[in-house]
Amino acid sequence: MPVALAVPKEVVAGERRVALVPDVARKFADLGVDVLVEKDAGKGCLIPDSAYESARIVGAAGELFGQADVLVCVQPLSVEQIRQLKKGSIVLGLLAPYSDPERVKALRDGGVTSFALELVPRITRAQAVDVLSSQASVAGYKAVLLAANVFGKFFPMLTTAAGTIRPASVLVIGVGVAGLQAIATARRLGGMVSAYDVRPETREQVESLGGKFIELGVSAVGEGGYARELTDEEKQQQQDELAAHIAKADVVITTAAVPGRPAPRIITKAMVEGMKPGSLILDLAAESGGNCELTKAGEQIEHNNVIIYGPVNVPSMLPVHASEMYAKNLLNFLSPFIEDGELKFDWDDEIIAGSCLTRDGEIRHEATRESVEGA
Ligand code: NAI
Repeated sequence: MPVALAVPKEVVAGERRVALVPDVARKFADLGVDVLVEKDAGKGCLIPDSAYESARIVGAAGELFGQADVLVCVQPLSVEQIRQLKKGSIVLGLLAPYSDPERVKALRDGGVTSFALELVPRITRAQAVDVLSSQASVAGYKAVLLAANVFGKFFPMLTTAAGTIRPASVLVIGVGVAGLQAIATARRLGGMVSAYDVRPETREQVESLGGKFIELGVSAVGEGGYARELTDEEKQQQQDELAAHIAKADVVITTAAVPGRPAPRIITKAMVEGMKPGSLILDLAAESGGNCELTKAGEQIEHNNVIIYGPVNVPSMLPVHASEMYAKNLLNFLSPFIEDGELKFDWDDEIIAGSCLTRDGEIRHEATRESVEGA
């Protein structure tokens, strides 16, 4: 029996992405999979139902959930949605395992095999399935455009009959995937870019994009190539040294994150008060608490003539390419395990085992299991 792969319409407010775009739906159909797409699923990307030529369009969400062998989504499913799934069905998506224990319990108790794509190990082989990277690239690019839109000055240097305009000095804090894309985009717009990260290997990456690396003498490499949380002493040293750089910047773009933890607080109120009037902080970490003490998620505020903007769900603001990249990540995740329309996972595979959240009525991801069920 071919596996029924279902694509729901995203229901979280403001979400415009869709888990499968028509080209990728066709690739699944070519593998023998029966693709079901909920009516209007692509609407946020201006993709009409008719573009999903190789799929069956299903009118009601309840019907879709009840038929799915595998359901792919972007935003985490609600408990109500999970309860509509068949026992033994499979779910893949950004499932935010750390944020809502009730959802994880519902997946466990519903006998759902779930894969939280944010748990995919950051190994070289996993790059093609890495939705954190694909969506962070979108966010880093869009962050610079959002900043440029709100900033009251040019980014590039201009020599005009009305005088010479100095280029904007842009400081990027946190040089992961989003930060690197932000550096590249700010450079394309003509900004003078400098950047800072606690992982020393980012120096070379910043310089290869034409940015200037800021050395603060605080290094914090953690597990799996990620940053670790700074000690109080390190935080103080970072803030003391970073303040001067922030005071000189016109635009500060912050992207710093530590997996499973609230975003590190890097910019204090006092540091904002040391900034030039008219300057701007765009805080890409707004959703996880913000890298700036004054950030309000989803809002643009002003403090002491400095704009602090904390947009949320930035990848959804560029939904077409964000969805396309997401869909390709899903295809790369599933297709090695599909043969003649049937899906059979290799549970010894590091990516499969590492990203599995629930299976056979149990929480398989140890850190999540401990936080939901206790040690
Ligand atoms: P992230 O979103 O977890 O964090 C963003 C950046 O913030 C990181 O570069 C981190 O070092 C930095 N940061 C954390 N605390 C900070 C602080 N207090 N001050 C300044 N900066 C701070 O990072 P992302 O983009 O998810 O990448 C994390 C790591 O994973 C990197 O080493 C990256 O190269 C690696 N990676 C590996 C992939 C693979 O092999 N499949 C794919 C993508 C990333």
